[in-house]
Amino acid sequence: MARDKSTYVCSNCGASSPRWLGRCPACEAWNTLVETAAAAPKAESKNRLASAHYAGASAQPITPLSQIQANDVARSATGLGELDRVLGGGIVEGSVVLIGGDPGIGKSTLLLQALDRLQRMGLPTLYISGEESGAQVALRARRLGLPDSQVPILTEIGLEKITQAIETHQPAVAVIDSIQTLYSDQLSSAPGSVAQVRECAAHLTRLAKNTGIAVVLVGHVTKEGTIAGPRVLEHMVDTVLYFEGDTHSSFRLVRAIKNRFGAVNEIGVFAMTETGLKGVSNPSAIFLSQHNEPVPGSCVLVTLEGSRPLLVEIQALVDTGGPSPRRLSVGLDRERLAMLLAVLHRHAGVATYDQDVFINAVGGVRISEPAADLAILLAIQSSLRSQALPKGFLAFGEVGLAGEVRPASRGQERLREAAKLGFTVAIVPQANAPKKPIEGLTVHGVERIEQALECLR
Ligand code: TYD
Ligand code: MG
Repeated sequence: MARDKSTYVCSNCGASSPRWLGRCPACEAWNTLVETAAAAPKAESKNRLASAHYAGASAQPITPLSQIQANDVARSATGLGELDRVLGGGIVEGSVVLIGGDPGIGKSTLLLQALDRLQRMGLPTLYISGEESGAQVALRARRLGLPDSQVPILTEIGLEKITQAIETHQPAVAVIDSIQTLYSDQLSSAPGSVAQVRECAAHLTRLAKNTGIAVVLVGHVTKEGTIAGPRVLEHMVDTVLYFEGDTHSSFRLVRAIKNRFGAVNEIGVFAMTETGLKGVSNPSAIFLSQHNEPVPGSCVLVTLEGSRPLLVEIQALVDTGGPSPRRLSVGLDRERLAMLLAVLHRHAGVATYDQDVFINAVGGVRISEPAADLAILLAIQSSLRSQALPKGFLAFGEVGLAGEVRPASRGQERLREAAKLGFTVAIVPQANAPKKPIEGLTVHGVERIEQALECLR
């Protein structure tokens, strides 16, 4: 008898392989291939998926771009300003949004708040909870100060029943909390397996495109690759938002990683309060720790995440290390740290090969832009020399392998924001030095890393 065919799907990138392999051939991650024991969805439904994915394109004749009607997309603003900002103005009709984040970071809270707003504006909504009972969701609503909320709740994990409910109820926005709890009758693998998560998400995407109902999927980010992380879904959906932030601090960042209907890397900033998430409309200074006097190993950076400049404190600790010294970073790229230490050695003669180096971006914010380089190097040098940078000091600029300091985008905007918050001295790339002086701020333009480090001699 022929065996049921199983495929192996990578829980990191979603690539599939007919055989088990130790390493995924697509993303090269180790030990991520998981057997999807059940039969694959029928070929017919696969084709339906393909045609729904490129909705409209298959049925129509080939047409020059200029003759295709491209109406503005219809959006529903949720009224939560910071959420609308990351979505690019509101939830787009028929779009699929994935919201990922660690458990307990506030995904369910944010979505319940958003749905309640929409429902109050007269848009029909539907909150599908696979994780919590109706009573638990109701308790959360009470806590949020919304005891009279009219948001319809369905507690269900069967995909077919959910689809049916959405089709009969016809909401404008449906939230699925969470995609990892759903299962489809078509597959025999357990809820949360890669195959189930993919099939359920594909099915809901099809539904959204066919009906114009916006679907929001909640996905838990898992550290281990054993349960399907939301990464598998990133390519299927229109918008991917991730929650960032330190669960110990009250601030939460929601970042758009992908957005077919808005800018990427846009961030929304919230504070978790006793009564839910509140938008922080002026977040520029929340990632600074409150030192009364300057301390060694700390340098403030102005970073441009999305459309707003943010001031973030970069901390470094350099300490005598063992035979194989450690390099650790929180919120910053570790590979980049290794590169910067090499630049520091070769071009400024500062050796750290026998030292442990730790760096941290305060407040759990993640910084990926290279404009952080200069602040990282100054924080390291400051820690190494036990010498604090002056009060009201900040720096930004990318550092190249040749030791040159390269300009950052929208430098004037960054400097003006810093001046507004009372910063007085800045070291920036020469090309970012302002032509007209900025009131209250002394700006030193530098071209090389050696020049920048002179402030610590
Ligand atoms: P939740 O939205 O349940 O997280 P997720 O869905 O991402 O797992 O948020 C849970 C955390 O938020 C929990 O630790 C309690 C806290 N919280 C508040 O501080 N204030 C509130 O008003 C609410 C509803 C939750
Ligand atoms: Mg939740």
